[in-house]
Amino acid sequence: MDIPATLIQVLRGARRVAALTGAGVSAESGVPTFRDAQTGLWARYDPHELATPEAFQRNPRLVWEWYAWRREKVAGVEPNPGHYALAEMERRFPEFTLITQNVDGLHRRAGSRRVLELHGDITRSKCFVCGSSAEAWTEKGEIPPRCPACGGRLRPGVVWFGEMLPERLLAAAMDAAARCEVFFSIGTSSLVYPAAALPEVALRAGATVVEVNPSETPLTPHATYSLRGLAGVVLPALLASFRPETARSGAGAAPD
Ligand code: OAD
Repeated sequence: MDIPATLIQVLRGARRVAALTGAGVSAESGVPTFRDAQTGLWARYDPHELATPEAFQRNPRLVWEWYAWRREKVAGVEPNPGHYALAEMERRFPEFTLITQNVDGLHRRAGSRRVLELHGDITRSKCFVCGSSAEAWTEKGEIPPRCPACGGRLRPGVVWFGEMLPERLLAAAMDAAARCEVFFSIGTSSLVYPAAALPEVALRAGATVVEVNPSETPLTPHATYSLRGLAGVVLPALLASFRPETARSGAGAAPD
């Protein structure tokens, strides 16, 4: 994968970097995306039947079991080179913020420590009634299980369509997008707001915006660079290209 020389130069001098990831970064780990025509979850299921509070009230068992199926799929997969490259970037850039729409927890499993999980985490559950998070519950055979605190039904700890994102996380993501010098948009169709607004915030603030996606998206015409490829291939190539130890020392870096 050829990385443009001008982009390598920008990365060499960058100190504040942010990255937004979507389902595409986990595709090479075997986790289904949402909108990819053949394999995407939404190609086979109707999101409004499964990923909304109304769907859960209509059919809590169906929604709980669909997320249990997705949890099983995620438990059985491993992070891929794209996840590991992003964990390495966190170690090499002086200020690196990883913002993800994914709920699979693979960035944390790959070693990323500062991850803003805008849409929550599929391995966590919380009470649909009192909202308290439930790490463990007594299985009494009832599906969904009951909240140990109030007896209400438990629900997946993810953001559903029509729900607000956690305010603190969104504010931190918007701040990172407004302050960064380089903003990566990786493996996302750039269709779901407010996450899809983040690269726009970065562009308006004068950042270099780099898209990594095998297909075009609504962001493509606006991105400074649009690298047409798989995250698991492009991100390791990017990392290898700019020898980030010079990024740490900043100005006056040793000549190549
Ligand atoms: P999508 O399924 O909408 O988009 C996945 C994107 O990843 C597409 O643009 C693919 O071209 C791209 N892609 C596929 N394989 C890739 C690879 N190996 N490397 C890089 N890119 C690849 O998933 P998201 O954009 O994450 O929200 O969807 C955003 C949100 O919509 C999700 O968080 C979810 C969904 O509804 C909620 O559930 C609230």
